[in-house]
Amino acid sequence: MKYFILTYGCQMNHSDSERIATQLECSGHKPVKTVAKADLIVVNICSIRQSAVHRALDQIYKLSNKKIIVAGCVLPEDRKKLAAKNIDVWHPDDYFWEAPLRQNKFSAFVPIMTGCNNFCSYCAVPFTRGREKSRPAQEIIAEIKKLLKGGAEEIILLGQNVNSYKDNCMTSNPPAPPFTRGVNTDAPLTQRGVRGLRAAQPVIDFPSLLQLINSLPGNFRLSFISSHPKDMSDDLIETVAKCAKVSPYIHLPVQSGDNKILKAMNRHYSVAHYKNLIKKLRLAFKKYRPDFFTRRSLAVTARSFTQRRGEGGPPLAISTDIIVGFPGETARQFQNTLKLIKDVKFDMIYFARYSPRNGTVAARMSDNVSPIEKRRRAQAINSLLKKQASILNKKYINQKVDILIEKIDGNFAFGKTTTNKNVKISMLRHPNLVSGSIVAAKITSVTAWSLKGEM
Ligand code: 5AD
Ligand code: SF4
Repeated sequence: MKYFILTYGCQMNHSDSERIATQLECSGHKPVKTVAKADLIVVNICSIRQSAVHRALDQIYKLSNKKIIVAGCVLPEDRKKLAAKNIDVWHPDDYFWEAPLRQNKFSAFVPIMTGCNNFCSYCAVPFTRGREKSRPAQEIIAEIKKLLKGGAEEIILLGQNVNSYKDNCMTSNPPAPPFTRGVNTDAPLTQRGVRGLRAAQPVIDFPSLLQLINSLPGNFRLSFISSHPKDMSDDLIETVAKCAKVSPYIHLPVQSGDNKILKAMNRHYSVAHYKNLIKKLRLAFKKYRPDFFTRRSLAVTARSFTQRRGEGGPPLAISTDIIVGFPGETARQFQNTLKLIKDVKFDMIYFARYSPRNGTVAARMSDNVSPIEKRRRAQAINSLLKKQASILNKKYINQKVDILIEKIDGNFAFGKTTTNKNVKISMLRHPNLVSGSIVAAKITSVTAWSLKGEM
């Protein structure tokens, strides 16, 4: 059959779609470029917000003349609704092991775990994806090696809560070589390696996994989403700062800047703890990565940047998720969130208006912040972010940064810095730029959301 995959939601769903494509093509189905041309449609649903579910279900009902497979994050109640219309939800248990058909060869998503045990009171994920399940490290390393061989420049590790990644090595042999981590903590990372490999039951946790990936040959970028502030250990902070291939960009969802709301959200950390994590992360990057703006400023060095890849780098960029209008959030509690934003100075904030999800603890609370007030709070965050991010981005002006080119459109190339900033480069004098290359560009102007550069 001719198939088309419609994907809603986060990178995890996009990554799942790549694996589903493999299964379909292995069974002889062929991809087409539009829904209209397809006989078989896979709809990968996101249940984070009700509006996303509505959009996906509307699409599904409109396509009733086609063969439909529904996958992704589907709540039990939506599964029932779909079943009533004779539509099944696909649950491939072993999708980790599928070699995905990647859309993008130079920037690859690699799932390392799925599911979540945290039960944040607002969140549907533990109900749609179930409990945490980590993928054996050996499988992950093998997939990344293959990707690097195939020309990948960027590896993005995915999981609902990557910090709690754990491979107890019961189902896989631990990756070679058997390092003796902990014997000499000052030794180069490549000589440290996997914690406890000599112990009776070896365990590869997230810092160990990062080290293993970091020690693979090649000058690739390594990043990961998402982390949970309660699980961000000192060991992990030091590891990400020391592993030179880990991009100086950390996404650390805070959700609220008010302790009472954090408690009601079941997040298990305080505002002070979160701020302390940010402080420790920034200090660790300062310590282990020479500062971009002093070491790499154009005035200081004339050496080519590409010669120095892996050294130094821009200052750490931090992004976060925030929910506005959680049940009972008062104006003062929201002010605390604005205060946190002012204190931390995020590079990016992915904010959402609270939407009750059936089956969650918060859905039993009164959703008492009006839609207008939720919108107002979201706007307040947006304008504060805009102001702060444009000040942060001004620091990039006249600096030379490495850009991974992702798209060519007309006379412009679009790419990303290691700090996840979008950059637009004029190709008038460099018509031969191609997607997937890394180029050094001087930043000439900035807005809150993007940078403009010249090669
Ligand atoms: N309402 C609004 N936003 C939500 N998120 C998760 N659940 C909800 C909900 N019920 C947001 C959180 C999370 C991100 C992926 O989506 O901020 O970090
Ligand atoms: Fe949802 Fe919380 Fe798990 Fe993130 S950590 S997926 S917000 S339950």
